[in-house]
Amino acid sequence: MSMTNGTDRKIRYAVVGGGWISQAAFMPGVAQTGNSEITALVTGDPEKARVLGDRYGIRAWSYDAYREALASDTFDAVYLALPNGMHRDYAVPTLEAGKHLLLEKPMATSVDEGEAIVAAARAAGVKLMIAYRLHCEPGTLDAIERVRRGEIGEPLLFSSVFAQHVSGENHRARQGYWAGPVPDMGTYPLNAVRNLFSSEPISVSAHGARRPDSPFEFHGTVTVILRFPGERMAQFTVSYETDAVDEYRIVGTEGDLLMSPGFTFGRGLAGKLTTGGKMRDLSYAHVDQFSGETRYFSDCILHDRAPEPDGEEGLADLRVLAAVERALETGETQVLPAMERSRRPSAGQGVALPPVKPPDLVDAAEPGG
Ligand SMILES: NC(=O)c1ccc[n+]([C@@H]2O[C@H](COP(=O)([O-])OP(=O)(O)OC[C@H]3O[C@@H](n4cnc5c(N)ncnc54)[C@H](OP(=O)(O)O)[C@@H]3O)[C@@H](O)[C@H]2O)c1
Repeated sequence: MSMTNGTDRKIRYAVVGGGWISQAAFMPGVAQTGNSEITALVTGDPEKARVLGDRYGIRAWSYDAYREALASDTFDAVYLALPNGMHRDYAVPTLEAGKHLLLEKPMATSVDEGEAIVAAARAAGVKLMIAYRLHCEPGTLDAIERVRRGEIGEPLLFSSVFAQHVSGENHRARQGYWAGPVPDMGTYPLNAVRNLFSSEPISVSAHGARRPDSPFEFHGTVTVILRFPGERMAQFTVSYETDAVDEYRIVGTEGDLLMSPGFTFGRGLAGKLTTGGKMRDLSYAHVDQFSGETRYFSDCILHDRAPEPDGEEGLADLRVLAAVERALETGETQVLPAMERSRRPSAGQGVALPPVKPPDLVDAAEPGG
């Protein structure tokens, strides 16, 4: 895909929610996209408004003044990185005001909320992209293409562990299931396996563990089992309670591919591909995934193209996350209605921009504290 816009026009972004991911990952990379700039910040913290406002030379609004911000002609698009439970309430007015939206994953905290967001984008005729940064990451796209080409034969099994310590002080600890490890981290293996199998799951079961001294108001560790059409199986375990692990493995009739790390953004991804009894290493450059996805989204806006990780992609994950919640509550396997996804990631949407050093954070911390 062309990454030039043929004009000097840049998409102007407002950042909504000045937390860890906005400050450490999104904001620092925008300058290197060539087609995007940050012009506004919406925050509840006057210190962030002052320091980040000075750092980026941007105007800040409070949440109470969000409608006023939307009515001002100071931005074309929003990067929304509030806690998951606030996504819908900020996404819908953003879209209704005619702003394009790059919305952090998971897109919302119920299928109804997700559908309301998709409907608002459609009604306003603006672009909606879910911030699946790995959909623009060349290593992830290479893994998908290899599996699709049949390098491991017919892919039948997927297995993943994605875990890290999360502090009891983080918002993730205190806002119920939808801030917990399944929506927060499980979205990555779920999204990966759907796109590696190029199909949608047909049933899901789940088991959760809650330690007696846990600071979390939900299961701190969860194992999810998914069935896919064609007798294919997947399982993943996510946790807020262990040392950091970040990998997935897809096994086919004639080989297997292990990606480790497979989901992170602080370094390059790496794979081990085994075919015909021979293993070889795949190593991928460390790219700045956030400026990559931002450049991709701005390019879609500038050229009136539909982004691949759209609202339908967000909903395809959301309906499974909701089914996992029901499976944990009831202990019963949840059958999912048949679904076809109209698009899949492809190598052409990869963007390779260099890593950017994160600046000092203002009143924010990574999930581990
Ligand atoms: N794509 C990725 O790799 C990735 C990685 C991490 C997170 N995320 C997603 O990004 C979103 C934010 O995550 P984060 O790690 O940045 O979280 P975080 O550090 O807790 O930041 C969330 C920010 O939201 C604002 N906020 C407003 N009301 C809040 C409330 N009631 N409780 C807590 N925060 C409130 C605060 O910003 P102000 O002080 O500015 O108001 C806060 O700093 C989540 O949807 C998460 O899933 C994506």
